[in-house]
Amino acid sequence: MKLRIVLIALGIALAGGGYSVIDLSMTRASAPADPVTFSDQVVRIFQRNCQTCHHPGDIAPFSLMTYEEAAPWADSIRSKTASRTMPPWKPVGGCGEFANTRGLTDEEIATIGEWVATGALEGNPADLPEPLVFDDGWKLGVPDVELRTVQTGYRVPASATSDIYRCFTIPTNFDADRFITAVEVAPSNRKIVHHVILYIDTTGVSVSLDQQDPGPGYTSFGGPGFATVGTLGGWAPGAPPQVLRDGTGYLVPKGARIVAQVHYKPNGQDEVDTTSIALKFARSPVYQDVIILPIINQDFTIPANARDFPVTASFTLPPLVDVKIEYVAPHMHLLGREMQITARNLVTGERKCLIYIDDWDSHWQGSYRYVEPLAIPGATVFELTARYDNSELNHNQPSIPPVDVSWGEKTTDEMCIGFLGLTIDAEHREPSAPILSEVRVQGSKLVVEGADIRPGSLITVDGELVRDTRVKSRRKALSKSAWASAIPAGVTVRIQVLNPDGAASPEFLFAR
Ligand code: HEC
Repeated sequence: MKLRIVLIALGIALAGGGYSVIDLSMTRASAPADPVTFSDQVVRIFQRNCQTCHHPGDIAPFSLMTYEEAAPWADSIRSKTASRTMPPWKPVGGCGEFANTRGLTDEEIATIGEWVATGALEGNPADLPEPLVFDDGWKLGVPDVELRTVQTGYRVPASATSDIYRCFTIPTNFDADRFITAVEVAPSNRKIVHHVILYIDTTGVSVSLDQQDPGPGYTSFGGPGFATVGTLGGWAPGAPPQVLRDGTGYLVPKGARIVAQVHYKPNGQDEVDTTSIALKFARSPVYQDVIILPIINQDFTIPANARDFPVTASFTLPPLVDVKIEYVAPHMHLLGREMQITARNLVTGERKCLIYIDDWDSHWQGSYRYVEPLAIPGATVFELTARYDNSELNHNQPSIPPVDVSWGEKTTDEMCIGFLGLTIDAEHREPSAPILSEVRVQGSKLVVEGADIRPGSLITVDGELVRDTRVKSRRKALSKSAWASAIPAGVTVRIQVLNPDGAASPEFLFAR
């Protein structure tokens, strides 16, 4: 079945609401046991839930690694955890089951409350667990491609007072359409990077936008400023690398650029950041590409002073077009307060709640990946309801006095989009079937011959890419020199050809 859903952009979201009141008298119901201490109980809660952001050099304003660092914040820690503001997590429970959900249990909140109430004691350092180590290495291992937003670093000056949304356009130089199956984002300066969204630009418009704006990159608060054919997802502090499900991938067309929109939060100091992006090529056939379906309304006006103004959007899947939703990313600007997306089946009437955020904060943008992809049958309507507060009571209100607000890219404009990252069940790309019939050294070159060797293929030696692979025809590829260090004389190695759709040839044993 041939179906191309219109693709546009991807926005992002993340962090916590809902209040629970802790009755401290309940938490020590049993006989007075040993007091709760940092070294024994509390640091273990911080390791599980807080330290990914609260360690030196990362986004949170202070570290929760050691007693000395944490103790001065005890009261604030108690109130932010009791109110469930920390750890930041926006989706309301019971609507969508997301991977990497953050949140404390009632018991953990009570333990922290009791620790603070009894004097925030250190306890015996002998009780401390092994400290967590945060290194800056790639969690995905060696990347197949590493991209950088800027070579020299982007400066966020001490004088900057408002958030900066900077787009960096980066060539991929892929010589063929290529499937990406894993993405990791690493800001060099985690203190100021609040989120990153990766867009795919096949138009080249990002280059002229960059040229029109002095300094590296260009500023764009809303989308990236061009009609994107897709995204490579997004990143927010504490997010693990994205690893796509087997058989699925992001398609990056030949010659496309990746545009990284980086949201910088100035902190009153001179800061410099280069954000790096690691990509992994598909190593097994990709049958379905992960595409972005925006549930979107661009035609609305939120009247000045409206306290609770609803904007709706919907999209109906045609009958027989069954999909699997991998992730959801709501997107609004500063006036947004709530967003809910549900899927209603037009035949059975069955409803599924995809996501509900009741305490929107545009500072915490994230995309939320489902633990298991949501299977949604055709003839289902996605219904989105967003609510906006355009009054002076909204503490994010950018216009005093408030003015009528419509769709637009500026901070003072609004957006109403729920991006769904999904695959279409009926899509089944026929994988290529490369095969090797001969491997030989010819002069100083390694030459492989066979069949169905596609443009953009790479030779692999014991699974490692030979990066200077050149494809000469469907039957032949070669490496001029990079192969030599990968194949020591007299050692038998496994040679394969890896096509850009992820299909690899059977192994060919070779020794020189
Ligand atoms: C995803 C990153 C992240 C995680 C995880 C996280 N925090 Fe935070 N925390 C932040 C950031 C960033 C701030 C600064 C305020 C903001 O931007 O919301 C903050 C602020 C705070 C504050 C408020 C400081 C003040 O100014 O009063 C406290 C207290 C706090 N965090 C405690 C915790 C605790 C306790 C945990 C774990 C239970 C935790 N945080 C987990 C990122 C995080």
